[in-house]
Amino acid sequence: MSGTSGSELRTSLKLPWRIRFILAALNAISNASIRRNGTVNRCLMTLIDFKVPPSDKPVKGVTTSDTTVDPSRNLWFRYFLPRGTTSGENLPIIVYFHGGSLVFLSPSSKSYDDLCRRLAGELPATVVSVNYRLAPEHKFPSPYEDGVEILKFIDENPPANADLTRCFIVGDSAGGNLVHHVTARAGEHDFRNLKIAGAILIQPFFGGEERTESEIQLAGTPLWSVERTDWCWKAFLPEGSDRDHPAANVFGPKSSDISGLKFPKSLVFMGGFDPLRDWQKRYCEGLKGNGKEVKVVDYPNAIHSFYIFPQLPESTLFLTELQDFIYSQ
Ligand SMILES: *[C@@H]1O[C@H](CO)[C@@H](O)[C@H](O)[C@H]1NC(C)=O
Ligand SMILES: *[C@@H]1O[C@H](CO)[C@@H](O)[C@H](O)[C@H]1NC(C)=O
Repeated sequence: MSGTSGSELRTSLKLPWRIRFILAALNAISNASIRRNGTVNRCLMTLIDFKVPPSDKPVKGVTTSDTTVDPSRNLWFRYFLPRGTTSGENLPIIVYFHGGSLVFLSPSSKSYDDLCRRLAGELPATVVSVNYRLAPEHKFPSPYEDGVEILKFIDENPPANADLTRCFIVGDSAGGNLVHHVTARAGEHDFRNLKIAGAILIQPFFGGEERTESEIQLAGTPLWSVERTDWCWKAFLPEGSDRDHPAANVFGPKSSDISGLKFPKSLVFMGGFDPLRDWQKRYCEGLKGNGKEVKVVDYPNAIHSFYIFPQLPESTLFLTELQDFIYSQ
């Protein structure tokens, strides 16, 4: 990346105008909904966060249903099942954590209902999309605890047509951060039937105090601002800690030794226009340095959140890559 200025990089980004427009709207509203006093205007977010109800009639070949796990903390999941799965047929199960900077969105958000439906129908697989608690109302480690609780629940109450021995923990952006921490915590628990066969982190949201080269060079690329990510870390991390907290900076100066951790083979997706890519690279190096097996897929023209847009060519490549990983374990 050295030798190229940030503005040259940004003008070399080719995106359809419709996607640029959607990203600009998302950016403006999420920017406007976070307040200086550390709270979120959730009413304002409803302008862009369209909700989709579950449906037992197949939509694009997939049925959905919602299951409550713990009403006291609004812990529930949406289950995606491809149509025509017969009673004896068991498919791999994906436990999915949506993105949204640890602050926004849910499994019923249209973009995530669409994405999980695509995964279920096209891989094919069953998908459990988790409604975990959000910051700033709920700080670290609430969403990690919610993720482990969901794994324990499905271990005891296997959803229809799910092969618990082929369970993959998957998530994008903030959800990718959850994939690491939930998988690490789950490694300390003995499940009855559930076996984690792989971890898939799609452009995971990691960070730290330092400003990396990609954060500086790619400032101003769609859907991202360092002011907003700083705000989100502050909203999520414990009072008084900085961004080198191990929740954000997994292999940073304050992290503990993870060499003894039970961690499955992982697949990490990165994009050339994602300002978070340097943090993701360090994360992959950290895993490898601790003897964990990790496959990195890096799309040079991909922006942060490319997978939300099926019309982008990388979205198709991404599905094939997921399918290969899941069906080769
Ligand atoms: C933050 O600001 C909003 C809007 O101005 C206000 O409604 C809310 O009560 C404030 N919250 C705190 C904790 O100061
Ligand atoms: C929101 O947008 C304004 C104007 O573009 C910018 O100055 C500000 O830093 C942004 N705030 C956050 C938290 O992203």
